[in-house]
Amino acid sequence: MIKATIAELPKYVDKEVKVGAWIANKRSSGKIAFLQLRDGSGFVQGVIVKSDVAEEVFQTAKSITQESSVYVTGTVQKDERSPFGYELLVTNIELIHTSTDYPITPKEHGTEFLMDNRHLWLRSKRQHAVMKVRNEIIRATYEFFNENGFVKVDPPILTGSAPEGTTELFATKYFEEDAYLSQSGQLYMEAAAMALGKVFSFGPTFRAEKSKTRRHLIEFWMIEPEMAFVEFDENLEVQEQYVSYVVQSVLKNCQLVLNTLGRDVSKLEKITAPFPRISYDDAITFLHEKGFDDIEWGDDFGSPHETAIAESFDKPVFITHYPTKIKPFYMQPDPEREDVVLCADLIAPEGYGEIIGGSERIHDMDLLNKRVEEHQLDPETYKWYLELREYGSVPHSGFGLGLERTVAWITGVEHVRETIPFPRLLNRLYP
Ligand code: 4AD
Ligand code: MG
Repeated sequence: MIKATIAELPKYVDKEVKVGAWIANKRSSGKIAFLQLRDGSGFVQGVIVKSDVAEEVFQTAKSITQESSVYVTGTVQKDERSPFGYELLVTNIELIHTSTDYPITPKEHGTEFLMDNRHLWLRSKRQHAVMKVRNEIIRATYEFFNENGFVKVDPPILTGSAPEGTTELFATKYFEEDAYLSQSGQLYMEAAAMALGKVFSFGPTFRAEKSKTRRHLIEFWMIEPEMAFVEFDENLEVQEQYVSYVVQSVLKNCQLVLNTLGRDVSKLEKITAPFPRISYDDAITFLHEKGFDDIEWGDDFGSPHETAIAESFDKPVFITHYPTKIKPFYMQPDPEREDVVLCADLIAPEGYGEIIGGSERIHDMDLLNKRVEEHQLDPETYKWYLELREYGSVPHSGFGLGLERTVAWITGVEHVRETIPFPRLLNRLYP
């Protein structure tokens, strides 16, 4: 007997196979039962015809409860009507474990209830689909950077420095000095780039966010490439190549789950490099023309502003050259204009907001010292970082892509809480 996963069934048309599965859903009449089977690799319908199987097999199918676990034996058949394209004509069911009163039934549940049951909610068809896309984005990320000569480097999680400002730090008590959970690996990635040229990291990131929005998590995952001898424009080119690569990989390898999610793939098909660029100055003018009177030059954009700008494009858009005073200390000023920096945020289409923040970094020692002082950072803490400018300093650039916001955009789910297996949000640590 062939033991197969659901995803492997297309290889075994007209053959008899054994599949380990859970019962996602069930419907039956006097003569026929339909079991919606899931095994993690996919979903398939099992059909049990009363007249074709032993009486106890049909009775098991009729009485089996949601999320019970089974070994099912059956013949794989083509089924043009189902999105998967195959079904299993069941000949035998071995019950492994009976599940009683599974809390998540096919009816509608409220968000808080589903979040409290996240450990079970992950089994649902929609959550399964989102996790598959997340996995494909991670896979394509490694593939893209490996194929383009990047080395994966793992920055520390426990850090003494605060690259992105001090307001959202997670302090821990252990070391003599204050230690924080990493809010970005960037500073360490800059050191790594001076050793290995082109590097990238992929790891957990912590922001003690007080905001409760559909784009904010307290713990999220960030991909942070950093490149020696790469200047502002070249940095944007890597970003648009990378994001296009990821989207096209998902389109190619996740057709079935995108279908489950009801994602409009025609919108994703348009995501190919190059992406449009608009300066912060022009973005402000554009917003004023659109009637946003609440924003002035020097203000940071809020979600409504980002969404309004993104709506004019069907690809992600780079907003470049933000005012120096609203960006972190390490960003390289525009050589022609001190008041703006060589940075860009990449704003996703369809209202998903900023998915990338990146910039060229200051490589001049004196200027960086000055910035550290202006930002009232402790030069002792940043001593090692400053030393990178002492020994063969070079122009370099990098960026950080937020995985969960990217998953939200590509899957089309409304809120980032559904894009990470166990979300950490304001007031949520369980499960
Ligand atoms: O714009 P951010 O803060 O940039 C940095 O941390 C840089 N040091 C990155 C670098 O240049 N190496 O964060 C980068 C991205 C954002 O564009 C967003 O996608 C995501 O990280 N992000 C969040 N995602 C979910 N929840 C949050 N609270 C996030 N904060 C940032
Ligand atoms: Mg940012």
